[in-house]
Amino acid sequence: MMSPSLLAAPLLDPTTINRIVDALVEQGWFADSEVLDPGLCQQLYAEICHLADHDGLEAAGIGRGTHHHLRKDIRGDAIHWLDRESQAQRIYLASMAELQESLNQALFLGLFEYEAHFAHYPPGAFYQRHLDSFRGRANRVISTVGYLNPDWPADGGGEMVIYHPEATDQEVARVVPQAGTFACFLSETIPHEVLPTRRPRTSIAGWFRRNASLGGVLDPAS
Ligand code: OGA
Ligand code: MN
Repeated sequence: MMSPSLLAAPLLDPTTINRIVDALVEQGWFADSEVLDPGLCQQLYAEICHLADHDGLEAAGIGRGTHHHLRKDIRGDAIHWLDRESQAQRIYLASMAELQESLNQALFLGLFEYEAHFAHYPPGAFYQRHLDSFRGRANRVISTVGYLNPDWPADGGGEMVIYHPEATDQEVARVVPQAGTFACFLSETIPHEVLPTRRPRTSIAGWFRRNASLGGVLDPAS
């Protein structure tokens, strides 16, 4: 059971939210350890481990709709979209809703929706350098990643590398996928990659979206 205090208190502390806002404005990205509640991470970790053990994940692809296809040479994770099935998922989504409101208030971003999936990278898997916003569909505005693995070893690999938005060969951060760590960045401008992991690696990747209407077609179409 989730402790009652976790339900009553703000889910992300206001100081952290201010630091996230400032970092997004100044450099386009934020990453820090010990942001997410340890008990919540533990429950979410148990949930994705259960999904991985019971055939509850699907291979991740690239592109949307009819352009969606599997490319293990580009990304090797398996995913499960958050569907509010568990209390832990609902609390994680509620904390992202708090962040969304703060980002809208501070930065007038007009974020109106959040989508997120569990991601499980088996040993050897990686995700090549990419941007999160699909070409011609600039509706993903801010990306978030919450990490769930307890006790990530120093030689575990699987770091998320963040690159400079203009000098795109220049690494600006390596984020260790340790439970409690949280990262977020501008989806259209911050290139990033997941280095090959040596351990099963778990995260929740999510995106705040703005409604993008292109040629009279609401995105996403479905
Ligand atoms: C993604 C992604 C990073 C991570 O799913 O688009 O870049 O560290 N994930 O899991
Ligand atoms: Mn990404």
